[in-house]
Amino acid sequence: MGRLEGLQDWEVKANDLIKAYPDRKASLLPLLHLSQEFWGCINEDVIDLISKKLKLTPSYVYGVASFYTMYHFERKGKIHIRICTNVSCQIKGAEEILKKLEEKLGIKEGGVSEDGKISIEKVECLGACDRAPVVMVNDHYEGPVDLEWVEKIVSQ
Ligand code: FES
Repeated sequence: MGRLEGLQDWEVKANDLIKAYPDRKASLLPLLHLSQEFWGCINEDVIDLISKKLKLTPSYVYGVASFYTMYHFERKGKIHIRICTNVSCQIKGAEEILKKLEEKLGIKEGGVSEDGKISIEKVECLGACDRAPVVMVNDHYEGPVDLEWVEKIVSQ
């Protein structure tokens, strides 16, 4: 296993989380969440660590993690922006928002800004079409967003 920075802090928090559930296995999602917060993604080392901690196979942990779009396997920015470009959002200008984000950050969709602060991911309907154009910033929804919103988020 490679070096996971802050492993001791993670252990303390992970133990507390595990204790909060009657069954170790039930703490898998919160543990994935915690790990992603710690290390920015669910990489091989993280899967290994969690599987040992919960006495599950790495393939089981990977299977669960890959089922949910909220977990990612490559490092993302501290601020991860998921932008919906599906029909309702597209009609309301999502492509323009995306283009502006890419321009301002100097990256393409799927990339991470050079300082590691912001990443962009184009996604399908986020199920919040009434707020189109809508984005998810880490775990919360924002919308309708506009070009002013882009200026604000990139200058954070
Ligand atoms: Fe964008 Fe549904 S089309 S949230």
